[in-house]
Amino acid sequence: MAIYAIWNNKGGVGKSYLTFQIASEYAKKHLDQRVLVIDLCPQATASSMLLGGLVKGEEQLVAIASKTRRRTIAGYVDERIRSPYVSSKVGGKFALKVNDYNDQIPKNLYLVVGDEGLEVQSSRVSNASNPGPADAWRIVHSWISDLITDIRHSWNVRHSTVFIDCNPSFSIYTELAMSASDRLIIPFTADGSSKRAVRAVLALLYGDTRVQGAEQSEFYLNSQAFRMSSPQIYSYVGNRLTQMNSAASAFKTVVDEIAREIWSVWQSNPNQFAVHPAGHPAPRNRAEFRKMFQAEINDANTASVVSGALGIPISSLPAGRKILAGKRIIVNQTQRDRQKRNIRRFAQTID
Ligand SMILES: Nc1ncnc2c1ncn2[C@@H]1O[C@H](COP(=O)(O)OP(=O)(O)O)[C@@H](O)[C@H]1O
Ligand SMILES: [Mg+2]
Repeated sequence: MAIYAIWNNKGGVGKSYLTFQIASEYAKKHLDQRVLVIDLCPQATASSMLLGGLVKGEEQLVAIASKTRRRTIAGYVDERIRSPYVSSKVGGKFALKVNDYNDQIPKNLYLVVGDEGLEVQSSRVSNASNPGPADAWRIVHSWISDLITDIRHSWNVRHSTVFIDCNPSFSIYTELAMSASDRLIIPFTADGSSKRAVRAVLALLYGDTRVQGAEQSEFYLNSQAFRMSSPQIYSYVGNRLTQMNSAASAFKTVVDEIAREIWSVWQSNPNQFAVHPAGHPAPRNRAEFRKMFQAEINDANTASVVSGALGIPISSLPAGRKILAGKRIIVNQTQRDRQKRNIRRFAQTID
């Protein structure tokens, strides 16, 4: 029944791609559950992939968002801007069954569609806490939790797992995602700024500012003041690992540095982590810590491009020739197989 946010304070690290792959794989392996993706990024990349990719997905995205009563995340936020402090309990109607739009996606996967309208709404959402009742901040930061509660209530199923794809910047809707989720997956890539971005995540969410006297985020201070929880770190995922020797060693350096950073957080604040799987004892040393919290995903090259562009999850993507926007592309079987394995393994670690 967990709610996972996929977030890093940096763009292009694979948040949307991994949301698409992991949610699809998880749904396929848990047909007894309903799986929900909430797309809280105005770019709506994960929605586009789920709805069929570059051509079909984009068309459907536009069609859904341009209806007068849009069944998208912005449609839900509209409802809440009208009634900020009292939930109108209408969230259930915003979850779309993805298989009705893209038959490559398991029938138990649902989506609250992303919408660029979120960007326009963001200042109104921020202003909704001010002026307002004394605990307006807490109530506004419960909007996405309310949405999930409404959807789960309308489903009336025993098990459901939620994945929230986030915007890189710590905007108001990223804050709402953080307040709604209980577990955090942090993807990163092998560039210098990834380490800084991971540090920013730790500072913004948990107040772990490394610089003495540095100002803490309003989110952290208010979460404390209103006793609202933040998600616990579930895993940090080195993404787009390359097989090339020189690049592979550069990647390893970055992974090791980030691992060291997160290990030091564990040593001082183990309660910021979600020990898993359920019932497993807490790691006792660095090797066990890494085994529990660190994951790595290879760069899948054309296999990932084709998978996202056609809206076919990697586990169902055939290798070989594909036509993409009129061009012939070859999906390399070795790369496809490796990526399939990576995604399957990672999805297996999701509780
Ligand atoms: N494991 C991977 N292998 C190959 N390409 C990837 C992989 N993960 C992500 N990508 C590609 O990297 C780009 C950025 O990924 P995206 O998910 O949009 O990042 P974010 O959501 O963090 O901004 C996309 O073109 C995506 O297809
Ligand atoms: Mg994205």
